[in-house]
Amino acid sequence: MSRTQSKMKSHYDVKSQHRVFAPGQKVLLFLPVQGNPLASKFSGPYVISHKVTDLNYVVHTPDRRKNCQLVHINQIKPYFERQLEEDQNTTFVNDERPVNILNKVSVDRVHHEVEDSCVAERVYIPSPRGNPSNSHILSNFNEYLSEWHHTVLRQQTNKVMADSKLNIGDVKKDFSNPEIVKRYVQYRPSPPSSIVSSVLHFHRQQQQQEHGVKDIKGEGDSSLCVDVGCGSGQNTQLYADHFKHVVGVDVSLDQLDAARVRNTRTNVSYRQGRGEDLPLEDESVDLITCCSSLHWFNIPAFFNEVKRVMKPGGVLACYWYRLPECHYGSHSFNDVIEEVWESWREYWPPCHQFIMKDDIQLPHLYPDQVTVRLSERKFVLEREGYLDDFLGFLHSTAVFQNLELDKGTQEAQHSLDELRQRLVSKMGRGNEADKVMLKYYYALRMWRKPSH
Ligand SMILES: C[S@@+](CC[C@H](N)C(=O)[O-])C[C@H]1O[C@@H](n2cnc3c(N)ncnc32)[C@H](O)[C@@H]1O
Repeated sequence: MSRTQSKMKSHYDVKSQHRVFAPGQKVLLFLPVQGNPLASKFSGPYVISHKVTDLNYVVHTPDRRKNCQLVHINQIKPYFERQLEEDQNTTFVNDERPVNILNKVSVDRVHHEVEDSCVAERVYIPSPRGNPSNSHILSNFNEYLSEWHHTVLRQQTNKVMADSKLNIGDVKKDFSNPEIVKRYVQYRPSPPSSIVSSVLHFHRQQQQQEHGVKDIKGEGDSSLCVDVGCGSGQNTQLYADHFKHVVGVDVSLDQLDAARVRNTRTNVSYRQGRGEDLPLEDESVDLITCCSSLHWFNIPAFFNEVKRVMKPGGVLACYWYRLPECHYGSHSFNDVIEEVWESWREYWPPCHQFIMKDDIQLPHLYPDQVTVRLSERKFVLEREGYLDDFLGFLHSTAVFQNLELDKGTQEAQHSLDELRQRLVSKMGRGNEADKVMLKYYYALRMWRKPSH
């Protein structure tokens, strides 16, 4: 039977082609004709938002009833601009040349340059200018130059993100959506101090052997810790007491803006960059951390960058948590939560499997390594809060973002309300304003670069 099935499959697949669409790509969609739902035709162009699975894409359809919809690959075909339009629309977004969005900088200059870039970003106000005269442009050249620089930087960043989505054949979340940034700031936890201690302990083992010191921070030292995929900075600041400089790197300018607003430490700064192309000099970093971010990177490309920028003896520490557990007194809500999470499986981005699994296979980096699995339940962050804190966390996930895109905000919100009702009924009438306990269990992977 299976032989016949595979023979039939190869027979039918003879003319089939593997098709992939990139976020931002223009396409035509085979959709019902408006006003005549029994007829369908290709219309558009529409723009791909992101891939959900190999067979399904979320596409922006602003002129339809749903602003965004989930579309099967068989209903999609590429849209080709006419040559004339291409010539007229020569913008940087369409520019296919590889872009290096940041210069590599030396460690001693990191802090200073980061501060400069913060100032520049804060003064950037996009303004439609119409068609200014040449003389007006020349007399305000510096202002135009800086505005152009930032507009292009944002456009190029979007392009770079879109490219990286393509490279890893994975779905990316829109981390720059202001609503998501807000949810991150409000609902994403900082890792437990036990993880930070383990990382510092592993890092110091080598330093102690080599230099006989406890902490490497000291007068005149240039120790550098870099937090890659820092988001709004929950993890970054935790290393400020232990290194001369701590730099948070993230691809999203909006996440970085939120991190800078929250920053209370003078030796912590933030700069834009990709894990796959770090804005850092060769052999310049003592410790690299990735808190809940590794799964969003192209991991082989990131590991290559780690090898390049890490000082001999330096450490890469990656940690992440699964969905938090939620408890009310002796009652656990985990069965209900797991059931709902499972029912959203079609919205899990492929990289999400990473954080749900206990046994993750990663490419080889260095032989000196440490693994602590989720199932060991060694690192836990316990946070007292309310039901809405737990629901707010769910709201901040890529899974919920995909659900919203597919079903629309109202229907997605309705799913959360239903979950809330189920949890409230478990708490018992009148108890819904009581506190609950959220438990985030963490996994940890660390690698040390050989000294020589
Ligand atoms: C799940 S968030 C984690 C944020 C933060 N570290 C935390 O603990 O909550 C992942 C972050 O990685 C960033 N990111 C995704 N892909 C990236 C890449 N290729 N390079 C750098 N940052 C990236 C996103 O912008 C986002 O801020």
